[in-house]
Amino acid sequence: MNKKNAVITIAGAGSLRIPALIGSLIYYKETFPVEKIILFDIDEKRLHRVRAYIDMTLKKYYAETEVVFTTDEDTAYGHTDYVLCNMRVGVDTMRSIDEKIPLKYGLVGQETCGPGGFSYGMRSIGAMIEMVEKIRSYSKDTWILNYTNPAAIVAVALDKVFPEDQRIMNICDQPYSMIKSFAKILDVDMYDIEPRYFGLNHFGWFTELKNTKTGEDLLPQLKDYLTGNEFKPFNAEQRAPSWLKTYKNVNKLMQFFPEYVPNTYLQYYFFAEELVEESDPNFTRVDEAKVGRERKVLDILEQAERQGNLENIPLMQGEVFGNLMVEVVQSIHNDENRTFVVIGRNRGYIPNLPQDAMVELAATLGRDGAKMIPYGEIKTFYKGLIEGQYAYEKLTVEAYLEKDYTKALQALTLNRSIVNPVKAKLVLDDLMAHSEEYWSLEKK
Ligand code: G6P
Ligand code: MN
Repeated sequence: MNKKNAVITIAGAGSLRIPALIGSLIYYKETFPVEKIILFDIDEKRLHRVRAYIDMTLKKYYAETEVVFTTDEDTAYGHTDYVLCNMRVGVDTMRSIDEKIPLKYGLVGQETCGPGGFSYGMRSIGAMIEMVEKIRSYSKDTWILNYTNPAAIVAVALDKVFPEDQRIMNICDQPYSMIKSFAKILDVDMYDIEPRYFGLNHFGWFTELKNTKTGEDLLPQLKDYLTGNEFKPFNAEQRAPSWLKTYKNVNKLMQFFPEYVPNTYLQYYFFAEELVEESDPNFTRVDEAKVGRERKVLDILEQAERQGNLENIPLMQGEVFGNLMVEVVQSIHNDENRTFVVIGRNRGYIPNLPQDAMVELAATLGRDGAKMIPYGEIKTFYKGLIEGQYAYEKLTVEAYLEKDYTKALQALTLNRSIVNPVKAKLVLDDLMAHSEEYWSLEKK
C-alpha cells in the first residue's frame, strides 16, 4: 500500500461523464483515499455546468478531500500524481460533423472508426501532445491516464512522440463494459473473470474468460449462449437503440466467425454498408446521446444548481467509465497488479505483429505501470485484419505530424470501412474543409 494519499487531476472535467466519475471516487474512497481532486477544463462554461453538483456532492460524501475547480493549466498540472484525461477537442459540434459528413458519401459515420475517427484523431493528436509536454514540464513522475478518443490513434501518436515515457497509459472502457455484460450472462462476478484479449483499440477479440475461482474458461459457455440468444449490454434498459443494435451485431459477426467474441466496434469494419443503410444522416449518435444519456445527466446538474442543495437528487455512481478510471488508478497506486485490458506497445507480446504496434491486451497494473501478458502468435485472418488497421493508424499519425495529404489519403483507403480511394478522397477533402481550425495537410 502506498502511504501517501493521491492528488488527482481530471482534465476535461466539464464532460458529462465526470459527475459519475466523482461518484466512483466516493465509492472507492476507503481503498483509494484521495487527498485532493483538481477539476480542470479549458472551457469555463463546460466546467460551470458540472460545478455546483460536484461541489455539493463532494462536500456531502467526501468532506475530507480538497476540491479545486480550475481553467488554469499550472494549477491543474503543477502538483499532481495522476492526470485522468478525457478531452474532446471540438466538442459535440465537431463530433456531429465527424459523424455526418461520411454518411454523405455512403461511408460509416462514427466518432472513432472510419473517416469520423480519422477526423477526430487529427484533432486529438495535437492537443494530447501539448498536454503531455505541459505535464512533463512540471514532473516526469505524474501518471497520465488517457481515455481521450480515438484512443487507438492517440496511443500511436503519443508513443511516437514520447517513446521513452513509461508513465502514459491509454485505456478504453469498452472491453470492461463487455466483461461486465459477459459476467451478467454467465452469472458470475465480473471481478472473478480474468480475460484474454488481443487486437488494437476498438478492433479486437476476447479469446478466454477464466473464472479465477474455479480455473474454468467461461468463453465456450458464453459462445454457446450467444449462438441462441441476443447479446445485450448489462444495462440494456438504460441503453439507446443504436447501442442495443451494436451489441446485437456481435451475434451476427459470430455467425460468420464463431471462434472468438469480437469487440462491438468491429461491426463498423465488417458491416459498413448495412450500418450506413440503417443510419439517419440527420440524427446520428451524437444527437441520440444528447436527448438520452446526456439529457439525464444535465437534468440532474441543472436541478442541483437551481436548488443549491442535493435534496431529492440522486448520487450518480456505478457507471462503467468512472469505475474503470478509479480502479485503474487504485491498482497502480496500491500496487494491486489487477488485470485490465489496456493499450500499449507490442514489444513482441504478439510476436507476429509489428513490434511498434499499439496493441490492446490484458495486462496487470501496478506501481511500475502495465505489465502486458504475452499473448503468443495470432492466426492469419486476425493478423491480416490488424495489420491493415494498424497501417491506417500509423499513416494517420504520420499524416498529422508531417502534414502529408498523400499519407492521409493512403490511411483512409486502407481503412476497411472505406477501401475505395475515390470515396476516401471525397470524404478527406470535405472533412478537411470543416477542420481548418484544427489541422491542415499539404499535397507534397
Ligand atoms: C464506449 C467507447 C468509448 C466511447 C463511448 C461513446 O464506451 O469505449 O470510446 O467514447 O462508447 O459513447 P456515447 O454514448 O457517447 O456514444
Ligand atoms: Mn473506447
